[in-house]
Amino acid sequence: MKHFLDLANCDSDELEHLLDLALRLKAEWRAGGNQPVLRGKTLGMIFQKPSLRTRVSFEMAMKHLGGDAIMLGPQEIGLGVRESVPDVARVLSSYVQGIMARVFDHDHVLQLAEHSRVPVINGLSDDYHPCQALADMLTIREQFGSLPGTKLAFVGDGNNVAASVALACAHFGVDFSIATPEGYEMNGRIRGQAAEIAQRNGTTMLMHTRPEAIVADADVIYTDTWVSMGQEDETQERLGEFTGFQVNDALLSRAKPNSIVLHCLPAHRGEEITDDVMDGEQSRVFEQAENRMHAQKAILSHLLA
Ligand code: CP
Ligand code: NVA
Repeated sequence: MKHFLDLANCDSDELEHLLDLALRLKAEWRAGGNQPVLRGKTLGMIFQKPSLRTRVSFEMAMKHLGGDAIMLGPQEIGLGVRESVPDVARVLSSYVQGIMARVFDHDHVLQLAEHSRVPVINGLSDDYHPCQALADMLTIREQFGSLPGTKLAFVGDGNNVAASVALACAHFGVDFSIATPEGYEMNGRIRGQAAEIAQRNGTTMLMHTRPEAIVADADVIYTDTWVSMGQEDETQERLGEFTGFQVNDALLSRAKPNSIVLHCLPAHRGEEITDDVMDGEQSRVFEQAENRMHAQKAILSHLLA
């Protein structure tokens, strides 16, 4: 792989290798520190949207691996406004050894990759969040020992996170089901991509409109915000449409006692997830957030070292 853009065009075995590498780098870091395999290398980080986890975990991952990172916020480069996306890619890639970009339009990540001389990593677009999904698989593997045969139930919006989690499940042998309100299903094209990989790897992918229908036999219950970045003007409408899709104690009582709850964060406590569940025994959301850094070390060292 040259870039890390969407998981749809990745090879399942290569992703498996990334997960093994992430586990090894996590253990190495905990045992005293990582080898400086990215010494002398700098990651340019383009952000068109806010971030806590992605921004800090990428920067710390680079530093732990002996490299450096430069933050380029929305006001600084004006991606596609002050300068065309291909020109930003041509210029930035002559200074840095890798580019991470968080954008609105997924096509901007594709254009960066097309015109960059160095690897490009998608740090979230309106369509996908592949770094998140790799960290999620790491979290599930740590919890259950292995991924194939486990079942994940996604409750809520069929958004960028749902899309990447569906693709990751298909690659790693995890059965995926999703319950969304009508009109908020996963995008048909991405559903097709995930279904094709799922079929190849012998896993299932199911769509529902009732959360109760999918949580009973799930090992992992996953949710995300009902209002993604860029959808703020739909807030009132969405809060109404997603009533009944909250991950709360009542929903969790229908799930297996040893199931875990994931959320990519930031959480809107009291909306898609309650305090009781977020802070409860089944929650692994903060381990999951930490794993962003470990998973990204694997991506960075695989692409940049
Ligand atoms: N989960 C995630 O990507 O968090 P940030 O938006 O804070 O980066
Ligand atoms: N779906 C959310 C994820 C945030 C990490 C968003 O796009 O805002």
